[in-house]
Amino acid sequence: MEAMKPLRYDYTGSLLSEHGISTEDLERLAPRLEEARREVLDDVALWRSGETPPVEKQPLDAGFFELPERLLEQHAQSPESSELGRILQTAERLREQVDRVVVLGIGGSYMGARALCEALCHPYHNEQTRQQRQGRPRLYFEGNNVDNDFAQALLDLLHTPGDTETENKTGTPRHDVERSWGIIVISKSGGTLETATALRIFLRALERSGRSEDVARLVVPVTGKTGRLRQLANALGCQDVFDIPDGVGGRFSIFTAVGLLPAAVLGIDIVRLLEGAAAMNRRFRQSAFADNPVLQYVGVGHLMEQLRGATIRVLSVWSKGLEAAGLWYDQLLAESLGKQEQGATPLTVVNTRDLHSRGQQHQQGRRDKLITNLIVDTWRRDPLAIGTRPTDEDQLNALAEVTLPEIMAAAVAGTNRAYLEDQRPTTDLHLPALDESSLGQWFQMMMLATVVEGRLIGINPYGQPGVEAYKRHMNEFLKRR
Ligand code: PA5
Repeated sequence: MEAMKPLRYDYTGSLLSEHGISTEDLERLAPRLEEARREVLDDVALWRSGETPPVEKQPLDAGFFELPERLLEQHAQSPESSELGRILQTAERLREQVDRVVVLGIGGSYMGARALCEALCHPYHNEQTRQQRQGRPRLYFEGNNVDNDFAQALLDLLHTPGDTETENKTGTPRHDVERSWGIIVISKSGGTLETATALRIFLRALERSGRSEDVARLVVPVTGKTGRLRQLANALGCQDVFDIPDGVGGRFSIFTAVGLLPAAVLGIDIVRLLEGAAAMNRRFRQSAFADNPVLQYVGVGHLMEQLRGATIRVLSVWSKGLEAAGLWYDQLLAESLGKQEQGATPLTVVNTRDLHSRGQQHQQGRRDKLITNLIVDTWRRDPLAIGTRPTDEDQLNALAEVTLPEIMAAAVAGTNRAYLEDQRPTTDLHLPALDESSLGQWFQMMMLATVVEGRLIGINPYGQPGVEAYKRHMNEFLKRR
């Protein structure tokens, strides 16, 4: 197998005399960064020991850190019965039995799976024929909102003649794969209203479309050890149910069945993904600042915020496939550090698209931003050239040999140069490719950076007490109606 290429973080574009930071600033911060790294590793050890953490550390959801190594190790020892083995088998079963899978979940129980699928699948996966998809089901996300029209539009799509109660009374239920669909429902608490509501609605549609015994194999819950969804799973007699382990918070759960099962259904190489994440863990644990992208990323972001008032962190992704990865990171940073009136504000932009919308502000607006470019170094497909046209009305013949990757590279370099001329700090995160090992490294890097920064600024990165307020009021309004 090809050796894993390491992700690279280049922060030289933030070393600016006027509005950036200096290497001396970073050197001064180094001991505190080292302390924060130690604290994160101590948190992991404390979590592993099973001892009750001190009050100020609660909740302590440090269980995400060792997941990649643990899952890989168990899989190597027991390929069939390990968690990873079970995920792969269920994915295979769903591939054989259904042509559409609806993934229900919200927040941390949704964003990771979507990010993986958008980054690693064919961009028009759902539009492809079953043969082109190599038998991998189409995937849809619901239960991430309570949008009446969107929910019904998806039901329309899933519905084919013979689905309705009336039709079923007279017709024969359908069981052929091409027209079958299933549900992966993801909720750690099992009580989140958006997801629970969607499950009721989609479960009803599924029950009406087939035999009742089908439901047990067509609904795959991913949930905590207790809760309403667990009870429902037991009542339905679901053939496969996956645990979201204790000590792994929603937005840190991408490397549990929450992210891995939908990814595996689509044929994403989840072993390679976890190997990438484990490689980032090793680097984080062992490397000095000079080769430690986690510490570098935290150091630059923190200093830019403290010394230059850059409270907005722009993640500028240079691939359309990375938009959902950016949204995953938006949640991770916002929900983890947006507490006690602190925490930088994340903002994802997709370029070159958003150069034509937000670009003006990033070039000349308030100096409250640090721009991090997320750059894919190697494209999956061969470079596509502009090509010639006999009549050259658009005057592009001069660039006929130029390819889209070359234009993209010029756009990255040109944008960075323009920012530099205006003393706008940038940094570059290079993904060797848009593949499993690169993304495994990146997702783990971002989770580690978020908890390290939390410890650095004295904010508990775990838990999201602020999200409860809206739920309380929403439930009151619902009761009053
Ligand atoms: O990061 C988190 O913990 C949250 O975003 C949750 O994932 C989200 O609220 C969904 O919760 P649950 O998985 O319990 O349905």
